[in-house]
Amino acid sequence: MNDPAAALESLIEPAVAALHSARHVCVITGAGVSAESGVPTFRDALTGHWSKFNPEDLATPEAFERNPRFVWDWYESRREMIRRVEPNPGHYALAQLARRVPRLTLVTQNVDGLHQRAGSRGVLEYHGNILRDRCTVERVAASRSDASNDGLPKCAACGGLLRPDVVWFGEVIPAGPMLAAAEAAADCDVFLSIGTSSLVYPAAGLAECALDSGATVIEINPNPTDLSAAASIALGGASGVMLPRLLAALPPR
Ligand code: OAD
Repeated sequence: MNDPAAALESLIEPAVAALHSARHVCVITGAGVSAESGVPTFRDALTGHWSKFNPEDLATPEAFERNPRFVWDWYESRREMIRRVEPNPGHYALAQLARRVPRLTLVTQNVDGLHQRAGSRGVLEYHGNILRDRCTVERVAASRSDASNDGLPKCAACGGLLRPDVVWFGEVIPAGPMLAAAEAAADCDVFLSIGTSSLVYPAAGLAECALDSGATVIEINPNPTDLSAAASIALGGASGVMLPRLLAALPPR
Protein backbone atom coordinates (compact mmCIF):
# COMPACT_ATOMS: atom_id res chain seq x y z
CA MET A 1 0.00 0.00 0.00
CA ASN A 2 1.78 3.14 -1.16
CA ASP A 3 -1.02 5.59 -0.39
CA PRO A 4 -0.07 7.23 2.96
CA ALA A 5 -3.65 8.38 3.62
CA ALA A 6 -5.01 4.88 3.05
CA ALA A 7 -2.20 3.42 5.18
CA LEU A 8 -3.11 5.79 8.01
CA GLU A 9 -6.81 4.92 7.63
CA SER A 10 -5.98 1.25 7.95
CA LEU A 11 -4.31 1.95 11.30
CA ILE A 12 -7.14 3.99 12.79
CA GLU A 13 -9.48 1.00 13.05
CA PRO A 14 -7.19 -1.25 15.13
CA ALA A 15 -6.27 1.71 17.33
CA VAL A 16 -9.95 2.43 17.99
CA ALA A 17 -10.63 -1.25 18.63
CA ALA A 18 -7.81 -1.38 21.19
CA LEU A 19 -9.14 1.71 22.99
CA HIS A 20 -12.70 0.36 22.89
CA SER A 21 -11.74 -2.84 24.66
CA ALA A 22 -9.19 -1.24 26.99
CA ARG A 23 -9.52 -1.74 30.74
CA HIS A 24 -6.76 0.77 31.55
CA VAL A 25 -5.24 3.29 29.14
CA CYS A 26 -1.91 4.87 30.11
CA VAL A 27 -0.92 7.97 28.16
CA ILE A 28 2.38 9.80 28.02
CA THR A 29 2.54 13.15 26.29
CA GLY A 30 5.45 15.30 25.22
CA ALA A 31 5.98 18.76 23.80
CA GLY A 32 4.38 17.78 20.48
CA VAL A 33 0.94 17.76 22.12
CA SER A 34 1.36 21.46 22.95
CA ALA A 35 2.93 22.37 19.59
CA GLU A 36 -0.50 23.09 18.05
CA SER A 37 -1.14 25.51 20.90
CA GLY A 38 1.92 27.45 19.80
CA VAL A 39 4.28 26.18 22.51
CA PRO A 40 7.72 25.44 21.03
CA THR A 41 8.95 21.86 21.34
CA PHE A 42 12.47 21.15 22.54
CA ARG A 43 14.09 19.42 19.63
CA ASP A 44 12.26 20.50 16.50
CA ALA A 45 15.08 22.17 14.60
CA LEU A 46 13.16 25.28 13.55
CA THR A 47 11.07 26.06 16.58
CA GLY A 48 12.70 23.97 19.31
CA HIS A 49 13.85 25.89 22.39
CA TRP A 50 17.18 24.20 22.38
CA SER A 51 17.86 25.47 18.86
CA LYS A 52 18.04 28.99 20.35
CA PHE A 53 19.36 28.31 23.82
CA ASN A 54 21.91 25.96 25.28
CA PRO A 55 19.93 23.91 27.80
CA GLU A 56 23.00 23.53 30.00
CA ASP A 57 22.93 27.32 30.48
CA LEU A 58 19.32 27.41 31.52
CA ALA A 59 17.75 24.20 32.80
CA THR A 60 20.28 22.88 35.33
CA PRO A 61 20.83 23.45 39.06
CA GLU A 62 24.35 24.65 38.22
CA ALA A 63 23.04 27.30 35.79
CA PHE A 64 20.60 28.52 38.46
CA GLU A 65 23.34 28.58 41.09
CA ARG A 66 25.59 30.50 38.70
CA ASN A 67 23.04 33.05 37.50
CA PRO A 68 19.55 32.82 39.06
CA ARG A 69 18.47 36.09 37.44
CA PHE A 70 19.30 34.83 33.92
CA VAL A 71 17.46 31.56 34.52
CA TRP A 72 14.47 33.35 36.08
CA ASP A 73 14.27 35.76 33.14
CA TRP A 74 14.02 32.81 30.75
CA TYR A 75 11.40 31.04 32.82
CA GLU A 76 9.36 34.24 33.32
CA SER A 77 9.34 34.71 29.53
CA ARG A 78 8.18 31.10 29.06
CA ARG A 79 5.47 31.62 31.73
CA GLU A 80 4.22 34.71 29.88
CA MET A 81 4.09 32.77 26.61
CA ILE A 82 2.24 29.85 28.23
CA ARG A 83 -0.31 32.18 29.84
CA ARG A 84 -1.12 33.52 26.35
CA VAL A 85 -1.80 30.13 24.72
CA GLU A 86 -4.81 27.85 24.95
CA PRO A 87 -5.24 24.08 25.02
CA ASN A 88 -5.75 22.59 21.55
CA PRO A 89 -8.14 19.85 20.30
CA GLY A 90 -5.61 17.19 21.27
CA HIS A 91 -5.66 18.27 24.92
CA TYR A 92 -9.47 18.36 24.95
CA ALA A 93 -9.75 14.96 23.24
CA LEU A 94 -7.54 13.39 25.93
CA ALA A 95 -9.68 14.92 28.67
CA GLN A 96 -12.78 13.46 26.99
CA LEU A 97 -11.14 10.08 26.39
CA ALA A 98 -10.73 9.74 30.17
CA ARG A 99 -14.54 9.77 30.39
CA ARG A 100 -14.92 7.11 27.68
CA VAL A 101 -12.68 4.36 29.09
CA PRO A 102 -12.84 2.61 32.49
CA ARG A 103 -9.50 4.02 33.64
CA LEU A 104 -7.01 6.46 32.10
CA THR A 105 -3.67 7.53 33.59
CA LEU A 106 -2.23 10.66 31.99
CA VAL A 107 1.52 11.18 32.42
CA THR A 108 2.96 14.33 30.89
CA GLN A 109 6.52 15.49 30.34
CA ASN A 110 5.11 18.94 29.61
CA VAL A 111 5.29 21.62 32.26
CA ASP A 112 2.71 23.98 30.70
CA GLY A 113 -0.40 22.87 32.61
CA LEU A 114 -2.44 22.75 29.37
CA HIS A 115 -3.83 19.26 30.07
CA GLN A 116 -5.34 20.51 33.33
CA ARG A 117 -6.75 23.61 31.59
CA ALA A 118 -8.41 21.28 29.06
CA GLY A 119 -10.13 19.39 31.86
CA SER A 120 -7.80 16.45 32.52
CA ARG A 121 -7.68 15.42 36.18
CA GLY A 122 -5.01 13.63 38.18
CA VAL A 123 -2.33 14.54 35.66
CA LEU A 124 1.05 13.06 36.60
CA GLU A 125 3.48 15.95 36.06
CA TYR A 126 6.63 13.95 35.38
CA HIS A 127 8.79 17.05 34.88
CA GLY A 128 6.93 19.43 37.17
CA ASN A 129 4.95 22.55 36.34
CA ILE A 130 6.54 25.78 35.10
CA LEU A 131 3.78 27.93 36.60
CA ARG A 132 4.54 26.76 40.15
CA ASP A 133 7.33 28.10 42.40
CA ARG A 134 9.38 25.87 44.67
CA CYS A 135 11.37 26.97 47.73
CA THR A 136 15.07 26.07 47.42
CA VAL A 137 15.32 25.84 51.24
CA GLU A 138 12.19 23.87 52.16
CA ARG A 139 12.14 22.04 48.78
CA VAL A 140 8.34 22.27 48.51
CA ALA A 141 5.94 24.24 46.32
CA ALA A 142 5.75 27.70 47.84
CA SER A 143 4.02 31.08 47.64
CA ARG A 144 5.92 34.22 46.79
CA SER A 145 6.76 36.84 49.36
CA ASP A 146 5.97 40.43 48.38
CA ALA A 147 9.40 41.48 49.63
CA SER A 148 12.79 40.76 48.08
CA ASN A 149 16.11 42.47 48.76
CA ASP A 150 17.62 41.56 45.42
CA GLY A 151 14.72 41.39 42.98
CA LEU A 152 14.71 37.59 42.99
CA PRO A 153 11.50 35.82 44.10
CA LYS A 154 11.54 34.70 47.73
CA CYS A 155 9.50 32.18 49.72
CA ALA A 156 6.62 33.72 51.70
CA ALA A 157 7.13 31.16 54.49
CA CYS A 158 10.89 31.25 55.03
CA GLY A 159 12.33 33.95 52.78
CA GLY A 160 14.39 31.40 50.87
CA LEU A 161 15.12 31.80 47.16
CA LEU A 162 12.38 30.40 44.93
CA ARG A 163 12.96 28.41 41.72
CA PRO A 164 10.60 27.15 39.04
CA ASP A 165 8.99 23.86 40.15
CA VAL A 166 10.34 21.91 37.17
CA VAL A 167 12.79 19.02 36.81
CA TRP A 168 16.13 20.24 35.50
CA PHE A 169 18.72 18.19 33.66
CA GLY A 170 20.45 15.88 36.10
CA GLU A 171 17.63 16.08 38.66
CA VAL A 172 15.41 13.21 39.75
CA ILE A 173 11.77 12.81 38.78
CA PRO A 174 9.35 13.57 41.66
CA ALA A 175 8.79 10.26 43.46
CA GLY A 176 4.97 10.37 43.39
CA PRO A 177 4.53 10.85 39.65
CA MET A 178 7.40 8.47 38.88
CA LEU A 179 5.96 5.59 40.92
CA ALA A 180 2.38 6.15 39.74
CA ALA A 181 3.51 6.33 36.11
CA ALA A 182 5.57 3.14 36.41
CA GLU A 183 2.62 1.29 37.97
CA ALA A 184 0.26 2.51 35.25
CA ALA A 185 2.66 1.57 32.44
CA ALA A 186 2.98 -1.94 33.88
CA ASP A 187 -0.77 -2.34 34.48
CA CYS A 188 -2.28 -0.79 31.36
CA ASP A 189 -3.49 -2.77 28.37
CA VAL A 190 -3.22 0.19 25.99
CA PHE A 191 -0.35 2.69 26.12
CA LEU A 192 -0.54 5.91 24.09
CA SER A 193 2.76 7.74 23.42
CA ILE A 194 1.85 11.13 21.99
CA GLY A 195 4.03 14.00 20.82
CA THR A 196 7.30 12.87 22.30
CA SER A 197 10.63 12.10 20.68
CA SER A 198 11.00 9.24 23.21
CA LEU A 199 14.61 10.29 23.83
CA VAL A 200 14.59 11.35 27.48
CA TYR A 201 14.61 8.70 30.22
CA PRO A 202 13.07 7.60 32.50
CA ALA A 203 9.95 8.92 30.71
CA ALA A 204 10.89 7.15 27.49
CA GLY A 205 11.17 3.87 29.39
CA LEU A 206 7.45 3.82 30.19
CA ALA A 207 6.51 2.68 26.69
CA GLU A 208 9.11 -0.09 26.89
CA CYS A 209 7.64 -1.19 30.23
CA ALA A 210 4.15 -1.26 28.68
CA LEU A 211 5.42 -3.32 25.73
CA ASP A 212 7.13 -5.74 28.11
CA SER A 213 3.83 -6.10 29.99
CA GLY A 214 2.02 -7.03 26.76
CA ALA A 215 0.14 -3.76 26.28
CA THR A 216 -0.85 -2.45 22.85
CA VAL A 217 1.43 0.59 22.34
CA ILE A 218 0.04 3.27 20.05
CA GLU A 219 2.29 6.18 19.02
CA ILE A 220 0.94 9.46 17.64
CA ASN A 221 3.64 11.62 16.06
CA PRO A 222 4.00 13.20 12.60
CA ASN A 223 7.63 12.06 12.62
CA PRO A 224 9.22 8.66 13.28
CA THR A 225 10.92 8.20 16.65
CA ASP A 226 13.00 5.54 18.37
CA LEU A 227 9.72 4.01 19.57
CA SER A 228 8.00 3.84 16.17
CA ALA A 229 9.42 0.50 15.06
CA ALA A 230 8.58 -1.20 18.36
CA ALA A 231 5.10 0.33 18.67
CA SER A 232 2.10 -1.91 17.95
CA ILE A 233 0.53 0.96 15.95
CA ALA A 234 2.39 4.10 14.81
CA LEU A 235 -0.07 6.81 13.69
CA GLY A 236 1.87 9.36 11.64
CA GLY A 237 -0.10 12.50 12.32
CA ALA A 238 -0.56 15.54 14.54
CA SER A 239 -2.11 14.89 17.95
CA GLY A 240 -4.63 17.72 17.48
CA VAL A 241 -5.95 15.86 14.44
CA MET A 242 -5.48 12.20 15.37
CA LEU A 243 -6.86 12.27 18.91
CA PRO A 244 -10.22 13.86 17.94
CA ARG A 245 -10.46 11.32 15.10
CA LEU A 246 -9.86 8.38 17.44
CA LEU A 247 -12.34 9.79 19.94
CA ALA A 248 -15.01 10.35 17.24
CA ALA A 249 -14.62 6.78 15.99
CA LEU A 250 -14.79 5.26 19.50
CA PRO A 251 -18.12 3.39 19.88
CA PRO A 252 -20.10 4.04 23.09
CA ARG A 253 -19.48 1.37 25.75
P1 OAD B 1 10.81 16.95 21.82
O1 OAD B 1 10.94 18.33 21.31
O2 OAD B 1 12.06 16.12 22.08
O3 OAD B 1 9.92 16.08 20.83
C1 OAD B 1 8.68 16.60 20.40
C2 OAD B 1 8.04 15.54 19.52
O4 OAD B 1 6.75 16.01 19.16
C3 OAD B 1 8.81 15.26 18.23
O5 OAD B 1 8.98 13.86 18.09
C4 OAD B 1 7.90 15.83 17.14
O6 OAD B 1 7.96 15.03 15.97
C5 OAD B 1 6.55 15.70 17.80
N1 OAD B 1 5.53 16.63 17.32
C6 OAD B 1 5.70 17.86 16.80
N2 OAD B 1 4.49 18.40 16.50
C7 OAD B 1 3.55 17.47 16.86
C8 OAD B 1 2.13 17.42 16.81
N3 OAD B 1 1.41 18.43 16.33
N4 OAD B 1 1.51 16.30 17.26
C9 OAD B 1 2.22 15.25 17.75
N5 OAD B 1 3.58 15.24 17.83
C10 OAD B 1 4.22 16.34 17.38
O7 OAD B 1 9.93 17.02 23.17
P2 OAD B 1 9.74 15.89 24.26
O8 OAD B 1 9.74 14.53 23.65
O9 OAD B 1 8.55 16.27 25.06
O10 OAD B 1 12.75 17.47 29.64
O11 OAD B 1 11.07 16.08 25.16
C11 OAD B 1 11.19 15.27 26.33
C12 OAD B 1 11.91 16.07 27.37
O12 OAD B 1 13.16 16.59 26.83
C13 OAD B 1 11.17 17.31 27.83
O13 OAD B 1 10.20 17.03 28.80
C14 OAD B 1 12.32 18.12 28.43
C15 OAD B 1 13.37 17.93 27.35
O14 OAD B 1 14.66 17.99 27.89
C16 OAD B 1 12.85 18.26 30.77
O15 OAD B 1 12.56 19.43 30.73
C17 OAD B 1 13.35 17.52 31.98
